[in-house]
Amino acid sequence: WSFFRWTWRLTYLSAVGGLFYTGYNIYKSKYPPDQDPPDPNKKTLVILGTGWGSVSLLKSLDTSNYNVIVISPRNYFLFTPLLPSCTTGTIEHRSIMEPIRNFLRHKKTAVQFYEAEATKIDYEKKVVYVSDDSEVRGDTSKTEVPFDMLVVGTGAENATFGIPGVKEHSCFLKEVGDAQKIRKRIMDCCETATFKGQEPEEVKRLLHMVVVGGGPTGVEFAGELQDFFENDLRKWIPEIANNFHVTLVEALPSVLPMFSKNLIDYTEQTFKEETIEIRTKTAVKNVTDRYIEAEHVDASGQKVLEKIPYGLLVWATGNAVRPVIKDLMGQIPAQKDSRRGLLVNEYLVVKGTDNIWAVGDCAIANYAPTAQVAAQEGSFLARLFNQMAKTEEIESELHGLSEAQEKAPNKEARDKVFGQMKDLQKRLRRVKQMGPFEYTHNGSLAYIGSEKAVADISWWTGNLATGGQLTYFFWRSAYLSMCFSTRNRILVIMDWIKAKTFGRDVSRE
Ligand code: FAD
Ligand code: NAI
Repeated sequence: WSFFRWTWRLTYLSAVGGLFYTGYNIYKSKYPPDQDPPDPNKKTLVILGTGWGSVSLLKSLDTSNYNVIVISPRNYFLFTPLLPSCTTGTIEHRSIMEPIRNFLRHKKTAVQFYEAEATKIDYEKKVVYVSDDSEVRGDTSKTEVPFDMLVVGTGAENATFGIPGVKEHSCFLKEVGDAQKIRKRIMDCCETATFKGQEPEEVKRLLHMVVVGGGPTGVEFAGELQDFFENDLRKWIPEIANNFHVTLVEALPSVLPMFSKNLIDYTEQTFKEETIEIRTKTAVKNVTDRYIEAEHVDASGQKVLEKIPYGLLVWATGNAVRPVIKDLMGQIPAQKDSRRGLLVNEYLVVKGTDNIWAVGDCAIANYAPTAQVAAQEGSFLARLFNQMAKTEEIESELHGLSEAQEKAPNKEARDKVFGQMKDLQKRLRRVKQMGPFEYTHNGSLAYIGSEKAVADISWWTGNLATGGQLTYFFWRSAYLSMCFSTRNRILVIMDWIKAKTFGRDVSRE
C-alpha cells in the first residue's frame, strides 16, 4: 500500500508541477520583458534564415553584444519533423509554426527582422542584397544590408537533378505551402475519381499516389498517407477503397539507406503489410502531367523504361544548393571545388573568408543535412559569438588597464593595476578556451505508418536499433519534447486528440 501511496503522490506532484511549469511558460510568452534597443555602433551581425540553424543560434545568442539583423522570406520557424503529418491533417500546420516575432520579443536586446529573401551576398563589399517577394510590396521592396559578420542559414532547395517535368507537375515536401498543396491534391484526386461517369482506368490513375524518393521524407509521407486512407478516406468515401494505392519509387536497392539493415527490412515488411508498394532500383527519368517514366532493370538484365500513371506525385529526392549560395561560392576561390554547399572549417567559418559562417543544410561539414546537425551548429555559433564578444570586452579592459598602469603615480598603484591585469588575463585564457565544433549524434527516428516507427538511437553501450509501436510512442514523445514552444506542444497534442476522436478533416480547402 505504501508503494501505491507514494506512486500516487509522485504522479500527483509531477502533474501539479507540470501544470505550474506550463502556466509559467504561457505567462512568460505572453508578457515578455521590455527590451533594450539595438546599438548600431556595435558590430552588425546579419543572420540569414529562420530555420533550425539560425533560430538555434538566436536562441542562445546574447544579442546585447551585436547589432543583430535577421533576414528571411519566412517570418516563422517551422518544426519540419512533423511536416509530413500536416499533409493529411493529422496535425494542423499552424501548430508546428512559431512566429519569429514572438521569439525575438524575448531577447534582452531587440533584433531587427526583415521579411525578405537574400538575392545576392557580395563578399568583397560585405553587403547582402535583399528583396521582398511577398504578395504585398511597398514602394521600396529591394535594398542592401551591410554586415560586419554574416551567418548563412538559408537551408537547401529541392533536388530535381534536372529531370524534365518535375518542377511543373510534382509536389515537394519542404515548406508549409507544400504540405497544404498536397493535402488539397489528395482530396481533389479522391473527389475527381468519384465524378459521375469517370472511366475505370482514369479512376485508377487518379487514385494512384506516387512518392519518389525512399529517404525519410518519402517514407514518412507514404506512411502518413496510407494511415489517412485506412483510418478516414476508406470510411468517408467507400467508393475509392478498391483503387486507392500508394507506391514509393526509389533508385537505390533499399529505402532509408541511413538506417540499420534490420530497420530497413522492418520498414519494407511493414509497408508490405500496409499495402504500400515499394519499387526499389527504379529511377525516375521523366515526368509528365499524368505519368512518370521510370527506368529499372528487368529479369533478363535489360533496362526497361516504364510509364507509371499517377493522380498525385510527391517528389522527395533530397537537397540541392540554393542559387544565392551557388553565387557566393562562385565569388570565393576556396569554394570552387565544392558542389553541394559552402565548405566550412571546424569553427563553421566559410572557407576562404573570415567574417562569414554557415550552418545547417547549406553548409558542408561532413554531417548529414538534418535538423539535429543544424541545431547543434547554431548553438555552437551562439557560444562562439558570445565568447568572441567577451574576449573583445576583456581585451579592451586590458588595454585600458595597461594605459592606467603607465600613468600610475607610484609603485603601489602600479602593483594594484598589475594584479587586476593578471586576473583579467587569466579570465581571457579561460574564455578563449573554446574547442572546434563537434557533433553529437543522438540517433535517427522515422514514422513508418500504422502507428509504428523506427529508431536508431545512440546508447551508452553502443547503438540501439528498434522498431514498432513502442518506438512510435517514443517518436511522439521525443518530437513533442523537441517542439519549439509550450504553445506548439499544446497545439500538437490537441491535434492528435482531435484526429483520434473525430477523424481527419476530409474537406478540400
Ligand atoms: P531550414 O530549416 O530549411 O531553414 C532555412 C531558412 O532559410 C528558412 O527560414 C528559409 O525561409 C530561409 N531562406 C531560404 N532562402 C533564403 C534566402 N535567399 N535568404 C534568406 N533566407 C532564406 N531532420 C531531422 O534531424 N529529423 C527529422 O525528423 C527531420 N524531418 C524532416 C522532415 C521533412 C519533411 C523535411 C523536409 C526535413 C526534415 N529534416 C529532419 C531535415 C531538417 O528539416 C533540415 O535538415 C533542417 O531544416 C535544416 O535546417 P536549416 O536551418 O539549414 O534550414
Ligand atoms: P534523401 O536524400 O535522404 O533521400 C532521397 C532519396 O531519393 C535517395 O534515397 C535517392 O536515392 C532517391 N532518388 C533520387 N533521385 C531519384 C530518382 N530520380 N528516382 C528515384 N529515386 C531517386 O532525402 P530526404 O528524404 O528528402 O531527406 C533529406 C534530409 O533530411 C536527409 O538528410 C534526411 O536524413 C533528413 N530527414 C530526416 C528525417 C528523419 O530523421 N526522420 C525526416 C526527413 C528528412
